[in-house]
Amino acid sequence: MAKLLGISGSLRRGSFNTALLRAAAEVAPEGTTLVVETLHGIPLYDADLEAADGIPEAVTRLKAAIVASDGLLLVTPEYNNGIPGVFKNEVDWLSRPSDDSARVFGALPVAVIGASPGGFGTILAQAAWLPVLRTLGTNPWFGGRLQVSGAGKIFADGALADETTRSRLAGFIAGFAAFAERTSRL
Ligand code: FNR
Repeated sequence: MAKLLGISGSLRRGSFNTALLRAAAEVAPEGTTLVVETLHGIPLYDADLEAADGIPEAVTRLKAAIVASDGLLLVTPEYNNGIPGVFKNEVDWLSRPSDDSARVFGALPVAVIGASPGGFGTILAQAAWLPVLRTLGTNPWFGGRLQVSGAGKIFADGALADETTRSRLAGFIAGFAAFAERTSRL
């Protein structure tokens, strides 16, 4: 059974994307675990900081968690039709030092989903992740798509409140979990 790790790309307490990730953990199939991670505690990438102090503890811990998982789920907000800087910043840290990047990302099963209050549900942010995932040498799953639009109506009190979306999410996670298990590096 698949051991998945999910990262929400928003720091916001009331984040739709973090709520989507929590819901994904709830609907994961029997036997699949999905651990919820956020970006809290990750500093801005600074090569001087890296040279002086090495990789921050929060980054090292997350790298170890990725290496121990069968697959990584990125739950991305969309800012200005692209990847939010804070989320890209975390992945940039995770890719350091460069000679350790393949251990973390190489052939790693990855899927991307996202939620936004607008009508396009992070479609451009999800597309913007593709060259990053290719550069890192990951093994992206293209067997499903999930762009949650109109998030203001789909979530209530910090939770996914729409049954149609919940069922689409369950189908997505089941498909990704099966792929991650089949192509796992572990
Ligand atoms: C946004 N938002 C947004 N939404 C979208 O669908 N397309 C976009 O291009 C943008 N651009 C954008 C830029 C900036 C700087 C901000 C702060 C916001 C709205 C965004 O989807 C909304 O704030 C979500 O609620 C962010 O996700 P979380 O924090 O709810 O997970």
